Amino acid sequence: MKITVVGAGAVGASCAEYIAIKNFASEVVLVDIKENYAEGKAMDLMQTASLNSFDTKITGSTNDYSLTKNSTVAVITSGIPRKPGMSREELIGINAGIVKNVSQNLIKFSPNVIIIIVSNPMDTMSYLAHKVTNLPKNRIIGMGGALDSARFKYRLSESLDSPSSDISALVIGGHSDKGMVPLTRIATRNSINVSNFLTKEKLEEIKQATKVGGATLTSMLGTSAWYAPGAAVSSIVQSICCDQKKMFPCSVLLEGEYNLTDLSIGVPVILGKNGVEEIIELELDDLEKANLIESSEGVKKTNNILNEMNLF
Ligand code: 2OP
Repeated sequence: MKITVVGAGAVGASCAEYIAIKNFASEVVLVDIKENYAEGKAMDLMQTASLNSFDTKITGSTNDYSLTKNSTVAVITSGIPRKPGMSREELIGINAGIVKNVSQNLIKFSPNVIIIIVSNPMDTMSYLAHKVTNLPKNRIIGMGGALDSARFKYRLSESLDSPSSDISALVIGGHSDKGMVPLTRIATRNSINVSNFLTKEKLEEIKQATKVGGATLTSMLGTSAWYAPGAAVSSIVQSICCDQKKMFPCSVLLEGEYNLTDLSIGVPVILGKNGVEEIIELELDDLEKANLIESSEGVKKTNNILNEMNLF
């Protein structure tokens, strides 16, 4: 099973590394536009194979998409990352053209590919990928919610002094500081609602810290994070490639689910060999519904910029 990762920067290289370490793919092709950069990262990663005990072959390509031929899954991480103080939405001007070009190159050589979008603004880039490829909606998946939920679990586990593996929690909505909707109401510690352990005020604090999780790291690192994004993508790719049917919140095209249409936004989905196998419609309370609607309005506002760019 061949997986392509476009963009050999920190996020792309982390994706490739985690996918290799999980040892479920025969090949990972890293693609980058910078001459010899993907080849260099691939060689460096391959030199960890004997140390980290994986058999996945990692190769690099300087923008030669013929080497990605017949990929089962392709991950798009290309584009510029955020700098401290920037919103994800500010990246649209540069990243939209790149994501369009990369998506079209990928389907030329892998017509059956399932595409995972990481580039920001992630929900709008997922919507753009639908528009420029016309792929069926089960085959374009934005990864934001899987990452945001992992960050939510981290915050909960920290406050509970509990291992993250005991925490179950979801973030739905857009992958933006304002748009994320962490569902504290249904978060659990080993099946017991977290409200049994944490005060309302603490849960509100955790919710706010989760929403700015990416921005917090960007201000600490000077660029956006890569380990958790890479790990989130690798889990999504594994669920598809190994037909695990795991549930992750991901940005998918909605056609009436949650009373929303014509946008990609984060909702829980089942991921298996066909990509998105099912969209789960949660019973939300009134506040969560209002938050999701507000989030969708933010995503649509960013999507509207695409129309002005004449990309499709
Ligand atoms: C983040 O939140 C890269 O958007 C990504 O870190």
